[in-house]
Amino acid sequence: MLIASIKPRTMGGTTNSGLLTYALARAGHPVACYDADESLQLAAWAREVDDFPCRVIEADTPAFAETIYTEMDHSKINIVDAGHAENHPDIVDSVLEVADLAIVTLSPTEPDYDRLTKPERGTPLSKLIRRSASLRATGQPPTTVVLLNRCQAGASSPKKYRGYLTNGGKSGTDPVWDVLTTQIPRWESLASAVKNPCDKRERRTPYDALVTELTRLGHIPEPRRNV
Ligand SMILES: Nc1ncnc2c1ncn2[C@@H]1O[C@H](COP(=O)(O)OP(=O)(O)OP(=O)(O)O)[C@@H](O)[C@H]1O
Ligand SMILES: [Mg+2]
Repeated sequence: MLIASIKPRTMGGTTNSGLLTYALARAGHPVACYDADESLQLAAWAREVDDFPCRVIEADTPAFAETIYTEMDHSKINIVDAGHAENHPDIVDSVLEVADLAIVTLSPTEPDYDRLTKPERGTPLSKLIRRSASLRATGQPPTTVVLLNRCQAGASSPKKYRGYLTNGGKSGTDPVWDVLTTQIPRWESLASAVKNPCDKRERRTPYDALVTELTRLGHIPEPRRNV
């Protein structure tokens, strides 16, 4: 299967992609990783630390569906870190054409929420997801979930934006999203995760919870255990 980690712009997408991959591997899943962001930071992270669970293949191409996807080992969980949807909608279109699950990383702030539906410039991510339906074999967009991240302990913002996301915004007319219960906290050890070792308790715990929730919801399979 293919999980696409997407976001409108800088949101914590690479941190989430890397640590989700690490958590999936620790849960017993065979994983493979693709970097479809031209900054190629996920690829650099994998190169520079010993405990990154797999090599990351550079895949920042608008021909992702035709070239990268066709070469994947589909028995693995493949994770692709997509770049800014606002700046590279062509690449994100091609990723959404073939993804089985899209995880939208979003920080609970007004500017970041606005960028899902009404960015000052560029195509809203919600529209990219909707229009992917016409390119896909199923005729439907991929299953899409929002992962709130950089959530400050004790702050009211995660609850407020979770409400907007699930109820169509302040007006009730914005797109409605499925929001995961798991929230990624705003922690210094997560702020410094990219290009540093994955095996640190604060870098494991939130993403282990994410894997548990994705499994419970049926978005990813149960891990295959050797007997
Ligand atoms: N959970 C977190 N808590 C605190 N800071 C975080 C967290 N996750 C990411 N950050 C910080 O947010 C910034 C963006 O993170 P990251 O590089 O993962 O995002 P991105 O969406 O991949 O960005 P880019 O646009 O560079 O691809 C970085 O400064 C990182 O330190
Ligand atoms: Mg990134």
